[in-house]
Amino acid sequence: APGAQEFIPPGTDSLAALRDAAGGCRGCELYRDATQTVFGRGDERARVVFVGEQPGDVEDVQGLPFVGPAGHLLRRAVDEAGIDPKHLYITNAVKHFRFEMRGKRRLHKTPDRVHIVACRPWLVAEFAQLDPEVVVVLGATAAKALLGPSFRVTQSRGVLLPWPESAQRPQDFAKVPVGPTGQRKSVAPTQLVATIHPSAVLRADDHDAAYAGLVADLKVVAGALG
Ligand code: URA
Ligand code: SF4
Repeated sequence: APGAQEFIPPGTDSLAALRDAAGGCRGCELYRDATQTVFGRGDERARVVFVGEQPGDVEDVQGLPFVGPAGHLLRRAVDEAGIDPKHLYITNAVKHFRFEMRGKRRLHKTPDRVHIVACRPWLVAEFAQLDPEVVVVLGATAAKALLGPSFRVTQSRGVLLPWPESAQRPQDFAKVPVGPTGQRKSVAPTQLVATIHPSAVLRADDHDAAYAGLVADLKVVAGALG
């Protein structure tokens, strides 16, 4: 797979232009079976950026991230944690739905490392247009994309972490010219919080405890916003 980089037109300097370009991405094989690219959405000046795994069945059909069951749960948790929903940007580590057919049903299939790596240039390009105070990493796939394969969400969740320069190499950001003035807003977001994926809450045996854990982690995010 060639990866997404060659599908990003040099000089692309807005989220809208990135979204347009991502519609034609063939950086890995996932575009073939999915309905469409599901790019991030939200406020360019978002104070908080959420990074999920990949679009689900509903997102694949609607073309928007987190509009299915996991998205509803996430919005409820965001609200309960006291984060202002007006200043968010929500995206995924992988922008096409990966699934396998089980009868007539499309069953979610976790993206592999190759898909995460192939799609990562879109995430990097999105961050070059954003300047959030906190990045919320939802689950293992997003953690792998931003923090590397050895990061363990269960061990490091719910705490403010510095943006890891070793994992998210600053030169990746620097490749993408940003902003209408060509001026970098900042080298990288300053802080990061990892937590479990809302889909894991939906699947959890003890749903209430898992949900409370998600809300508690998001309260750390709310607290960091002051
Ligand atoms: N799960 C994700 O990780 N992202 C979505 O957009 C929907 C479900
Ligand atoms: Fe491109 Fe990412 Fe879709 Fe693969 S999953 S085709 S890299 S947008």
